[in-house]
Amino acid sequence: MADGIDISDFGDNKTIRRQQQAPQRKAKFNYDDDFAGKNKLSLDIIYIINQSPFGVFIAQEELADIAPLVIEKHRQLLNGEGDCKDGDIPMLGWLTLPDKIGDAHISEILALADDFKKNIDVFISLGIGGSYLGIEATFRALTHTYFNQLTRKERGDIPEIYFLGQNLDPDFFRDTLENIRGKRIGINVISKSGTTTETTIALRLLRKLIESWEHDKSADFIIATTDKTRGALRALADRKKYRTLIVPENIGGRFSVLSDVGLFGLAVAGIDIAEFVAGFRHMKSRLVSADFWRNPAMVHAAIRHLAFQKGKRIEVIASNSTHVYQLARWMEQLFPESEGRKGYGMWVSPSLYSEKLHANGQMVQDGPRNILETFLRLENHDNTISIPPDPENLDGFNFLSDRREDMNYVNKLVIDGPAYAHFQGGVPSMTISIPRRNPFNIGQFYYMMEMSVALSGYLAGHNPFIQPGVEAYKKAMFALAGKPGTEKDGQALQEALGQFKKVII
Ligand code: PA5
Repeated sequence: MADGIDISDFGDNKTIRRQQQAPQRKAKFNYDDDFAGKNKLSLDIIYIINQSPFGVFIAQEELADIAPLVIEKHRQLLNGEGDCKDGDIPMLGWLTLPDKIGDAHISEILALADDFKKNIDVFISLGIGGSYLGIEATFRALTHTYFNQLTRKERGDIPEIYFLGQNLDPDFFRDTLENIRGKRIGINVISKSGTTTETTIALRLLRKLIESWEHDKSADFIIATTDKTRGALRALADRKKYRTLIVPENIGGRFSVLSDVGLFGLAVAGIDIAEFVAGFRHMKSRLVSADFWRNPAMVHAAIRHLAFQKGKRIEVIASNSTHVYQLARWMEQLFPESEGRKGYGMWVSPSLYSEKLHANGQMVQDGPRNILETFLRLENHDNTISIPPDPENLDGFNFLSDRREDMNYVNKLVIDGPAYAHFQGGVPSMTISIPRRNPFNIGQFYYMMEMSVALSGYLAGHNPFIQPGVEAYKKAMFALAGKPGTEKDGQALQEALGQFKKVII
């Protein structure tokens, strides 16, 4: 088979190589200017400020006009001013957290993770919203697509990793249990309030499984991450003598991935958490700048704010990487849960390109012009796959192999092509370039987005750190379920339903 190819022609899988370094993770991550330069995140706004057949979307002068207001909101944020409280507590702990996490704390988390994972085959992270998405996104952004199907050695001596408690689908739960049958499981249950239905029901089931398998040792297999003193999970953990980690009271769920909420699970998954922290710190040092044009979070927030004012209602966040796409899913929570108030805010639609280009791509190109597009462009994938020549060239693609182009080259065009075509069709876009998949870049990205959404809330004139709307569904669900204490709500709900016209076809 002279003309064939073999998987070994592609060399080692670099994602597996990175995972196999997991046992050597250290509490300190040192980097120099060269590393920082090669891992610089950038924001490209050419398809915002230039002329398309639909005109200029936002002129550079308009950005210059709004800059003083954004600078003022940034000043307020850094000084702890503005509408930032949940109850009595200013929810700004995330702003300074990168500098507060010391090497000793990282060492403690690494030691706890090492101790926890050595006795288990399967690690399950339980949580929803901010107690889930950042951990899963980071894990999937940095690890192998089929992580759980690799050998433990290929995974870097890491257990299989699963996520539960993010929905109440019994089939999903049952299927996951099937997959882990007969394996020793360890769980990290995460809930700041300690009362979230989805997480609590999943915990009840899993802890009963663990109790029946491990009997009096079950507490060794459960770690609870929750409030220092309050909530049902705190009471349960104290009673059952689970080891606990704390969700800082001044950090809301969706801003908590850098706290122990994220650090512990990521350490169990073999992610270099010291490098992750360093990425946050590095971006923080960039974003203290009060110079609008040097602060990508300010420019990003200004563009999104003006986009809303100019009628954009949907933000398609598209990536050319199945791994970086996970960050768009994290943004799908961060932005709408912080911005969606009193009729304000853009619907965030995470998209994986090319896949979505052959689906709702038609709508982006030619549907209602209420879309802003944001690309998360991965510059360098872990692996390179060259496009092999074919003497018959029946598919007509030798023009690529003749030039020795690889899949990576074509996959970048999956951003560049749509960005240009959509711009010509009246869809402006920004591109955030992420040089490569590493914890440093993911950490930088998260801090930049957290700063941007905080500025966005301040620009819109509302508190981005609370989510009163989420309470409405919980209230209705408890009232329907007849939870003790909700009797009055339940009665009002049944009466309201009783008066509705019933048309069921
Ligand atoms: O960002 C938030 O605050 C929310 O998404 C919460 O993280 C989510 O509702 C889960 O809450 P809890 O950690 O209290 O279970």
